[in-house]
Amino acid sequence: MYKPLLFASALVLGAAPARAQTTDPLAPTGRWTLPERKQAQTPPMGWSSWNAFRTEVDEDKVLGAAQKLVDSGLAKLGYVYVNVDDGWWLKRRTTDGRMQIRTRIFPSAAVRGGDTSFRPFTDRLHAMGLKAGIYSDVGRNACSQAYDLHSPNLPEGTTAEREVGLFGHVDQDIALYFREWGFDYIKVDACGINVYAPGSAVVRDNHYTPMPPLIDQASINRTDVPTVRALYEKVAQALERHNPDGDYIFSLCAWGSADVRSWGNRVGHLWRTSGDITPNWTRMLHNFDSASTRALYAKPGAWNDPDMLFIGHGDFDANHLTEARSHFALWAIINAPLLIGYDLRNAPQSLLDIWGNADVVAVNQDRGGHQGVIAYDSNDVQIIVKTLAGGRKAVALFNRGLAPAKVDLTAAHLKFSDTAPIRLRNLWDKSALAPFKREASFTLAPRETLIFEAQGVRRLTDGVYLSEIPGDINVAADGVTTPEPDPMGHRMIGQWSGTRNGGERPIYAGWGGARADATPYDQALQIAGRGFDTGIGILAGSRLEIRNRTGRTRFEALVGVDDSTRNTKDKVRFRVYGDGRLLAESLPLGFGEAAQPLTADLRGSKLIEIVVARDGNISDLPVVATWAEAALR
Ligand code: GLA
Repeated sequence: MYKPLLFASALVLGAAPARAQTTDPLAPTGRWTLPERKQAQTPPMGWSSWNAFRTEVDEDKVLGAAQKLVDSGLAKLGYVYVNVDDGWWLKRRTTDGRMQIRTRIFPSAAVRGGDTSFRPFTDRLHAMGLKAGIYSDVGRNACSQAYDLHSPNLPEGTTAEREVGLFGHVDQDIALYFREWGFDYIKVDACGINVYAPGSAVVRDNHYTPMPPLIDQASINRTDVPTVRALYEKVAQALERHNPDGDYIFSLCAWGSADVRSWGNRVGHLWRTSGDITPNWTRMLHNFDSASTRALYAKPGAWNDPDMLFIGHGDFDANHLTEARSHFALWAIINAPLLIGYDLRNAPQSLLDIWGNADVVAVNQDRGGHQGVIAYDSNDVQIIVKTLAGGRKAVALFNRGLAPAKVDLTAAHLKFSDTAPIRLRNLWDKSALAPFKREASFTLAPRETLIFEAQGVRRLTDGVYLSEIPGDINVAADGVTTPEPDPMGHRMIGQWSGTRNGGERPIYAGWGGARADATPYDQALQIAGRGFDTGIGILAGSRLEIRNRTGRTRFEALVGVDDSTRNTKDKVRFRVYGDGRLLAESLPLGFGEAAQPLTADLRGSKLIEIVVARDGNISDLPVVATWAEAALR
């Protein structure tokens, strides 16, 4: 039954009021307002127990994986986080609330005095040069307690003893996991605030404490976004308190719900953009699509997480290396965390070669931190281009379908000059292709992804387009006033419900968010009939912060209301700030007015802000604005 969500908020936060927006989101701040983070400057890499073992994790399996990371050389490539997922816990001790580990599966955790500790385990991992990750839930109960009811590793005891999640114990648990036990990474799930509704069968049958759901995955309107965010922020604050040197990683696992795709980067180092991946091709597409359009939201210290790798299983097993390589190349080029989910003790060389492809890993780990941007899009084929440090690019040609596909890659996709030679190096077979000008054609096998390093003369010889450097841009305000489900993305047959329901509908909020080289509603950029293949598409009521890392001296763009806007009545103004000072402002511009040049002298400015403000409010509809060919030069 539906319970008013306000009731849920009051329950969760006690007297604390929801955070009110006190400042004008369009006012320049003169600074980068995302937390400056020490960890996850490149996407986290490592191994997790979940896709390999579900809850049937144990110490031998984990240490076996850890040993293999070291022995195979994967650790040297960057796979250093060894993460224990759901299943490790026995109970919460009722005398003092201290969490107890299931020593049957983690024997080294049995320490003197009848207590348990992961310190011997994390010491082992650290001695191997690795890092250790643990798992919890932001509510009282975990996912396995609802979805893995036949697991041998469910928490045991009374109702209170089985409340193993962080809820009501944030400070105590985070101190235990990080200060005492020495973990370096935590993934925090959200089942505890999602599936334990009052009166539900799972609560009744298992005598759990009910929790009015804060998340309704099918309805953003019935999801209490501020409270979900506040709960995760509380964990973030505890992590900071107990790791004053910033030496930790916080992984948010709210499956793309609660509009987390828009705010996750302010709270954690990575945030899931979708529901769980399964070892099915079409589910991989679904998860990929949930993150691939969100390039502007990822950057060093903060990454879109389409979920862990499922290479080695099902459609991605050793008999399906084309699919396995695609999965890997796609995760690499969109800067997804690379967390192996396979029993590495028994990994065939063919799979180790995929995870161990140093060139593809280097694309993912490039220090610029620019997520790949979709340069060509269709349901059949996509071309994704990622800016690498040093002026090079990586490009993935992705055949999503079951038929061979002809793919023409153009200089324009790469934002390279079409009169100078372009050189491609195939990162799978290491071959160098004959240099070409303007375009080259490829035939891709079904489900194949070719991934190349590309070199050429940049179209903008003395500068960089903003859409080439998403890692240097923070979407401080994206102008979305009412979160809506994002209809883009592959909708596979539900793995859990099959075709018994009415079908898979869009559920992840974030529609209308800022886009590189597209409008917020996935149209091509166009102002008064003039099309642009590069730029930033965004709603009015937005502010972007841009790091001027290399001391560029000039901002340039052609600005205007995009032809795709539904609001054709209201005008907007475009503004450029440098270190908080107004440098340039457009006249009010409306639908159908030609793109206007807007330039600013950036000399001395370290932080650029670009703002689109509404000039009028005749209609409630959002105004789509385009920063065409926006560049720092
Ligand atoms: C959720 C998460 C998964 C995994 C399981 C554990 O489904 O999304 O990644 O952690 O819980 O039960």
